[in-house]
Amino acid sequence: MKKNKASKNWLIKKNRDPYFKQSKILGYRSRSAFKLIEMNKKFKFLKKDFSVLDLGSSPGGWSQVVTREVRKGKILAVDKNPMEKINNVDFIEGNFNDTNISDKIILYFNNRVNVVLSDMAANTSGNKTLDTYRTGELCLSAMSLAKKILSQEGVFLSKIFMGSIFKEINEKAKKSFKKVVIYKPESSKKESKEIYIFCKGISEI
Ligand SMILES: C[S@@+](CC[C@H](N)C(=O)[O-])C[C@H]1O[C@@H](n2cnc3c(N)ncnc32)[C@H](O)[C@@H]1O
Repeated sequence: MKKNKASKNWLIKKNRDPYFKQSKILGYRSRSAFKLIEMNKKFKFLKKDFSVLDLGSSPGGWSQVVTREVRKGKILAVDKNPMEKINNVDFIEGNFNDTNISDKIILYFNNRVNVVLSDMAANTSGNKTLDTYRTGELCLSAMSLAKKILSQEGVFLSKIFMGSIFKEINEKAKKSFKKVVIYKPESSKKESKEIYIFCKGISEI
């Protein structure tokens, strides 16, 4: 009974969400698409001939946005869950942290990558502190991979949840990249601790 009421409230909330409605109208697979649209408007990092890696891509909203901007480049999406085909996007199913998957990613781009995106989130466990920490760990691993494969002026953009691990992420980012900006898009729910870290240009040291 309680569960029914909760799912009814969730549906009402979802239907009142303007970004959810817009995503249906415009054919985006997730409302998250609007976060990337907003961040690209602000930081202007998607260019038509770029190579882009989209980590945690499923169901595909961010990859859809990338295909609208990157017309001639290479786009690789990776997720441990399946993703329905998107034209001009190659997809690898698996945990990006597994050596065989990260090897495949590196092999796919035989040149430097311009943009590494990560909208990855750890599975919810019911313990918010733990989930925040685990999503932070995903960000740190994605940053390590990004540092290996990005071009000199490359961009790393990742989801994080505000929590104790933020300091470690911010410090690592500031050591690794020339420019680091913490940003919360309008379309990211106000009540969520979700924020994004935008990093540009590999540091020499
Ligand atoms: C918030 S969703 C991404 C939504 C996506 N950006 C979109 O616009 O449709 C987070 C995704 O991260 C994926 N994920 C979490 N951990 C992962 C890992 N270690 N390797 C690959 N994907 C992972 C999840 O399977 C999930 O699909």
